[in-house]
Amino acid sequence: MILEKLKAFYKKKKLAVWKLEISNRNWKLENGNNRFLISIFHYQFPVSNFQFHLSMQKHTRHLPALAKEAIEFLGPKPNQNFIDCTIGDGGHAEVILDKTAPRGKLVGFDRDEQALNRARKFLSKFGERIQLINDNFANLDKYVDTASKPDGILFDFGFSSAEIQDPERGFSFHASGPLDMRFDRRQELTAAHIVNMYVEKDLVRIFRQYGEERYALKIARQIVQTRKKSPIAMTQELVRVIGQAVPASYLRSRIHFATRVFQALRVETNAELEAIEAALPKALAALKPGGTIVAISFHSLEDRIVKHLFKDWAKQDLVKILTKKPIRPSEPEIENNPRARSAKLRAIQKQK
Ligand SMILES: C[S@@+](CC[C@H](N)C(=O)[O-])C[C@H]1O[C@@H](n2cnc3c(N)ncnc32)[C@H](O)[C@@H]1O
Repeated sequence: MILEKLKAFYKKKKLAVWKLEISNRNWKLENGNNRFLISIFHYQFPVSNFQFHLSMQKHTRHLPALAKEAIEFLGPKPNQNFIDCTIGDGGHAEVILDKTAPRGKLVGFDRDEQALNRARKFLSKFGERIQLINDNFANLDKYVDTASKPDGILFDFGFSSAEIQDPERGFSFHASGPLDMRFDRRQELTAAHIVNMYVEKDLVRIFRQYGEERYALKIARQIVQTRKKSPIAMTQELVRVIGQAVPASYLRSRIHFATRVFQALRVETNAELEAIEAALPKALAALKPGGTIVAISFHSLEDRIVKHLFKDWAKQDLVKILTKKPIRPSEPEIENNPRARSAKLRAIQKQK
């Protein structure tokens, strides 16, 4: 039945399948510039009730959230220099580089080597004007040249479409893959380690603190029970365990029942909040007076840190807050890019 659906889909779209890759339960189909991910997996709620789920996603370049607004606040002009702390697929960076031609430079950070390779490809036309660094933005002070302070610094937190769509990275609860979730694959800590090795009370803490998950205790208990029999290695196994721990009504809620636990594991795996807390003061120190910092957050934990630090600095007259309230994406942007729906942008200007 699934193959029939696929054939019909391809016939309708007039696409020829050029390449088929099968890994875990995911099929990757490539056709020219289009990459489709097809995930086939099952849930067991209750154990006797199998549900097959077919999801198709088109792999395309990450669409930058709130790009127009970010660029308006950064205000790039010819020959100015910028830092993009989260280069991803280089969507924001490309607009900045276009506007800072002919000699403006951009330093781009990403913890993910694959992201840097993609950015390098997408931004190749800018040649020597870009410098890409495979490191945590929390270390940005190591790379900033004090003689040429940047005119603006951008943070666009979280993960890119390429990362969430690749089942091998383990970020998505919609696809079957190893419980990895590392941005930087040189790092030792993985989500699988956390799930299988953390004691129950630490699991509860991270699910509560980083996922704001109301069934944190039940889920942590179910994980501990399950892993006694065999380790939980794959994303879909974890989804199943979460499904067994929460009430039936939760399984039907608007937000997928695994969302919060997956967010919590990602935040813990990558020490994401610590990185933001460390990086923002370093960005302020590195910035040229009169320059702008723009930070785009995707959940309240990130936004809270940005908001409090910006307020604190404004009280000390170090900065002027340019966004009294966070900027949210417009309805047309959300329609075009549903991933942008939770984005919040805050901007400040460094005082003299
Ligand atoms: C939302 S994406 C950025 C998308 C980008 N603005 C664009 O237009 O394509 C976030 C990127 O930041 C990277 N990232 C997340 N945390 C990081 C950190 N602490 N240091 C450096 N890069 C990080 C992720 O690997 C991901 O590629």
